[in-house]
Amino acid sequence: MPVETKELKMSEGLLSFITEWKKKPGNLIMILHRVQGEFGYIPKGIAEELGKMLDVPLAKIYGVITFYHFFKLEKPGKHTISVCMGTACYLKGGQDLVGELEQLLGVGCGGTTDDGQFTLEAVRCIGCCGLAPVLTVGQEVFGKLTTDKLPEIIAKFK
Ligand code: FES
Repeated sequence: MPVETKELKMSEGLLSFITEWKKKPGNLIMILHRVQGEFGYIPKGIAEELGKMLDVPLAKIYGVITFYHFFKLEKPGKHTISVCMGTACYLKGGQDLVGELEQLLGVGCGGTTDDGQFTLEAVRCIGCCGLAPVLTVGQEVFGKLTTDKLPEIIAKFK
């Protein structure tokens, strides 16, 4: 039976993954990856449920989540705008892109818009340095950007 939390429940697939990994070393990180794959972040209720299932203190689970920046504690927006802050992009104005997006979206870096449409984040080099400065929205890459192109990109995903 799926485990229900306040509003979210673990799928059968996730539950069997947890059962399979329960006793294996390094299981917590593997399971957290799987949870984030399923929900897009680590919901609090699911973290609590995991603690009970694995007999691990909640503080330890949150210790792991916060140590690895990969894990998210907040539900991401429908679209994640990831601005590259690798060296090439930084030197070509990546910071200006972040500043302008913060203005346009009304959220800080790492934040999600109130309507749940966009999450803004800064990321390391994504391997398209020849197109610097770049950002991605989901799987789509936008390169050789200037701040004046940003409203158009946002509009495309609204
Ligand atoms: S530094 Fe931005 S893609 Fe490499």
